[in-house]
Amino acid sequence: MIHKFSVAPMMDRTDRHCRYFHRKLTQRSLLYTEMLHCNAIVRGDKNNLLKYSPKEQPLAIQMGGSDPILLSEASEISEEFGFSEINLNIGCPSDKVQKGKFGAVLMKEPELVARCIKAMKNSTSLPVTVKCRIGVDEMEENRHLDEFIEVVHQSGCETFIVHARKAWLQGLSPKDNREIPPLNYKRVYKLKEKFPQLNVVINGGITSIDDSLEHLKYVDGVMIGRKAYDDPFILTEVDNRIYDEEKTFVSLDKILVSLLPYIKSEIGNGTKITHITKHLMGLFKGLNGAKDMRKHLVSIDNDLDPLNNFEFFLSKYVA
Ligand SMILES: Cc1cc2nc3c(=O)[nH]c(=O)nc-3n(C[C@H](O)[C@H](O)[C@H](O)COP(=O)(O)O)c2cc1C
Repeated sequence: MIHKFSVAPMMDRTDRHCRYFHRKLTQRSLLYTEMLHCNAIVRGDKNNLLKYSPKEQPLAIQMGGSDPILLSEASEISEEFGFSEINLNIGCPSDKVQKGKFGAVLMKEPELVARCIKAMKNSTSLPVTVKCRIGVDEMEENRHLDEFIEVVHQSGCETFIVHARKAWLQGLSPKDNREIPPLNYKRVYKLKEKFPQLNVVINGGITSIDDSLEHLKYVDGVMIGRKAYDDPFILTEVDNRIYDEEKTFVSLDKILVSLLPYIKSEIGNGTKITHITKHLMGLFKGLNGAKDMRKHLVSIDNDLDPLNNFEFFLSKYVA
């Protein structure tokens, strides 16, 4: 299935509370977990790590790793947990990830990635997809990227999400690696031209639905990360403008009030309210009094009566 729009996996951001909130804004977008290492999925506390609300679906799990056996076991577990897609991270450039031999450094090892995908596909009937860059370091963007895609495609991967900039593996922080290497959207379009049978999803620096629609003239899907998190109202346009669904009226108060039952039930289960409300800050972007609203939300703490306090917040700021 082709997902024309998705919200990018982001560590420390797209946790289950964030995704539940995003799902209130868009029914159709594909959502992703943060990257989870296959070892943690296989050997860790699965029930806690992989917990999510069925309302978050369609939901893809993103994994890191380069051990075909562990990845295959993790894929089997992910299918049991009901995820709708399994994505392998070949784009993260952090030092820690490089040392663990996964993420972007694997762009230099297409055969190993192909073995991983093959093993994963053998243990699940779910789509197994790859998120990568247009290259790393000195990799020549044309020939090497095509070779990488060709080899990995032959192992059964049909969908490639491509962050349209290289990762520089030495000397740049992960944050800089999302900003400094130049964006090259045309390279991603060219990939789709060369491999028309593949689903190619473009990612990196996309900040509006207008721009997303423009990209969709050349590729199959668009993935947005930071803009969706920092200014989540953008997601309220997706179902209507990208998927041609009927326009629905969404407002700040409607969104916040619709989260109340979730917040109530999560608090009942011991979740700290700030673990949920921290993801809502972007909703107030550009509003008069945004600073006060954020300050108020941050101050709501589990030790006081958090639910009452949140309801007070609603009555004070949203009619
Ligand atoms: C805080 C943060 C955490 C991220 N964590 C992940 C991750 O876990 N897996 C991944 O593939 N990409 C991760 N990324 C990269 C994003 O998925 C995306 O590729 C990148 O931000 C470029 O898209 P954007 O310009 O729309 O944000 C992260 C990005 C940010 C800002």
